Amino acid sequence: MSNANEKRQAGEAAIRYVEDGAIVGVGTGSTVAFFIDALADLKDRIQGAVSSSEQSSAQLKKHGIPVLDLNTAGPLSIYIDGADECDPHKRLIKGGGAALTREKIVAEASQKFICIIDSSKRVDVLGTFPLPIEVIPMARSLVGREIVKLGGQPVWRDGVVTDNGNWIIDVHGWRITDPVALEKQLNQLPGIVTVGLFARRPADVVLMGSQEM
Ligand code: A5P
Repeated sequence: MSNANEKRQAGEAAIRYVEDGAIVGVGTGSTVAFFIDALADLKDRIQGAVSSSEQSSAQLKKHGIPVLDLNTAGPLSIYIDGADECDPHKRLIKGGGAALTREKIVAEASQKFICIIDSSKRVDVLGTFPLPIEVIPMARSLVGREIVKLGGQPVWRDGVVTDNGNWIIDVHGWRITDPVALEKQLNQLPGIVTVGLFARRPADVVLMGSQEM
């Protein structure tokens, strides 16, 4: 079975966590796209969604699902999102789609984070997938030099501008054995907006598609 089928399984399985009357936090990516399509069937039973990207907002609106402002929606009961890597402690690398900042905000605002992945995302140690970091454009080189000092190889995702008007650096070559410490350390560097490590606030539940399902 292809990864697309596993993504569909995971996306559709997350529907059972959506309660009547909920405002649903919605992530970004191809796995979440399956979730949004399934959520359309429940649109008359929910208040709406808070979206983490322009891409997901467009898909939600296409289905007639109201897209709400996080500032007025308040704390959310659930957040559904994919990941680029997931370790055994449900710590994640995210940001392959450059939506990491809004994803981290909506995840933080939610009581329960349900992560939906296909089996290729499951790893023992994070870091094979290059770690995305969103930076203020003027700080790109500064942040890059600091990353080199920490043993990483920064690669500018040239041509990509985030929904927030910033740039992405992908860090290669890190075997991330202590993701909580690395997330904390990188968060202290001026110019970094968001680190694509979700370790301080990992997922609560991981739903992984499987060829056996
Ligand atoms: C978006 O920036 C990412 O965090 C996505 O959640 C991640 O890339 C998962 O994408 P897929 O579901 O498309 O694999």
